[in-house]
Amino acid sequence: MFYMYICSKTKIDMYRTHNCGELKMENVGDKVTLSAWVQKSRDLGGLTFIDLRDRFGITQLVFNMDTNAPLCLEARKLGREDVVRVKGNVSERSNKNKNISTGDIEIEVLSLEVLNKAETPPFTIENETDGGEELRMKYRFLDLRRAPIRDNIVLRHKVAQACRTYLSSVDFLEIETPFLIKSTPEGARDFVVPSRLNEGQFYALPQSPQTFKQLLMVSGFDRYMQIVKCFRDEDLRADRQPEFTQIDCEMAFVEQEDILNVFEGLVKHLFKMVKGVDLPDFERMTYKEAITKYGSDKPDLRFDMRFNDLTELMQNKGFKVFDEAEVVLGIRVEGASNFTRKQLDKLTDFVRSQQVGAKGLVYCKFNEDGTTKSSIDKFYDESQREAWGITTGCKKGDLLLVLSGTSKHTPKAMNMLRLEMADRLQLIQDDVYKPLWVVDFPLVEYDDDSQRWHAIHHPFTAPKEEDIQKMDHSPGEVNANAYDMVINGVEIGGGSIRIHDRLIQEKVFELLGMDKLEYTEKFGFLLDAFKYGAPPHGGIALGFDRLCALMGGDASIRDYIAFPKNNMGRDLMLDAPSVIEKVQLDELSLKLNC
Ligand code: AMO
Repeated sequence: MFYMYICSKTKIDMYRTHNCGELKMENVGDKVTLSAWVQKSRDLGGLTFIDLRDRFGITQLVFNMDTNAPLCLEARKLGREDVVRVKGNVSERSNKNKNISTGDIEIEVLSLEVLNKAETPPFTIENETDGGEELRMKYRFLDLRRAPIRDNIVLRHKVAQACRTYLSSVDFLEIETPFLIKSTPEGARDFVVPSRLNEGQFYALPQSPQTFKQLLMVSGFDRYMQIVKCFRDEDLRADRQPEFTQIDCEMAFVEQEDILNVFEGLVKHLFKMVKGVDLPDFERMTYKEAITKYGSDKPDLRFDMRFNDLTELMQNKGFKVFDEAEVVLGIRVEGASNFTRKQLDKLTDFVRSQQVGAKGLVYCKFNEDGTTKSSIDKFYDESQREAWGITTGCKKGDLLLVLSGTSKHTPKAMNMLRLEMADRLQLIQDDVYKPLWVVDFPLVEYDDDSQRWHAIHHPFTAPKEEDIQKMDHSPGEVNANAYDMVINGVEIGGGSIRIHDRLIQEKVFELLGMDKLEYTEKFGFLLDAFKYGAPPHGGIALGFDRLCALMGGDASIRDYIAFPKNNMGRDLMLDAPSVIEKVQLDELSLKLNC
């Protein structure tokens, strides 16, 4: 009822009877009031046209010199981004515009009032703008008026709404968790906040609400969700912001399978509701399989080019580079045997670049006429090249690309080459979605620099029951009940079944190099909670910004966040971070060295 009341037309008629995206042929003859921004104007002798814009769309206004010269002259004085109120009659356009929702009509204006004059904006506020990235970020409030950015923010809203509705319908409760907390380890550095009341002490902003959502399971809330800000002080790139949003969830009395089903259902629902797309069933792949076949734990399955292990086939034929390599990997590039020398040289430069770091590239062309030609023909004859073709599936017209080196680095380099080839050959179709669950991640990995085991997901992830006995002697072989949701090569989410047994949790902390004093100090509250009836539980967090960018068809998450930071973590509009007053530093008992 309340909603009906504030939306009733009588309340808002003063400024507008309609928005700029809703008038159609059925409104022809109506008397309307619109209030919005001037996008641009055109003078065509006796007629002046103005595009009036709000967040709903654009409506064309028309002023006629013959019928109302003073008003037409007023209109000609309007500048871009002036805020105006007009009253007029809806009429059918002679020149219809099929590209906009109001393209069949225009408003013959009877009165015009400037509500607020605007200075000339620093860049044009249209779909294609002349504003560079920096300028757009500095004036983000203007950038947000542009339709492509505005549509992203609208999409974000719709995804959030659909997500809440879906999860609420299957008994999830939205519960807020605090921001001023103690460190939650997710592998990044913490942003910290000094405490005035507790001199010399700091809060950490949450890298995720991980420990809180587990505590909520101990509290019996059973199914928790939250669309929540997380903060991570890490190197930034297109798909990473220092503050970002997760759809964070946790469930009690579940196994991995239950979680995969619920969240596959959620994401299918979101795509259907927001984009009208029916996602296919999610494929499943173990971490090991993903690394072996694609050299990545987030493979893009929209195109093939799986790796072939050619080590055995290619070694011991006198080619030193391969003989000395730990691994030789090849990918079949369909229909690329016509790559020119120049193109292959460019590819060689690419694999040798710092970013890829391979020593060189070997290729073999399987020509249309049935002959084969490789870059190492000196060492391998026709029959050997044919054997490569059989192993890799290369047929007439295909190109085989081969990299060799260490077993740690070569799959990563080959992954980059695979993605590069897909890009060069334009193999990736828009609006094709290949969702995937990557399961059975290892529990820990050894970090040579710190000489310690690190949790691959986080320290609260449960090892697989059958692998627990391996924790003492071969921790690297222990698999975890951990999973990632990957769509089109983007890690959309990650989660795990948690440890709910105090002794196993202590064992994992110890494996990660913490002694009793350290883990009691950091996570005593969680270990305590496990004493009082912790149910088996598990969960997942989806990267909300990444999900929205994927649905909107962009690789960068920046334009799906209303007020994002740049790659240096700066807000260019606020000019933050910034220095603070000495009195503030004193109050916080902080001293700066610089
Ligand atoms: P994880 O660290 O895998 O798991 O994060 C979950 C998802 O959050 C997104 N994400 C980011 N998005 C934008 N910018 C960032 N800096 C950023 N970092 C992560 C990714 C990622 O898959 N607590 C666990 C979840 C759990 O176990 O339930 C967690 O945070 O899409």
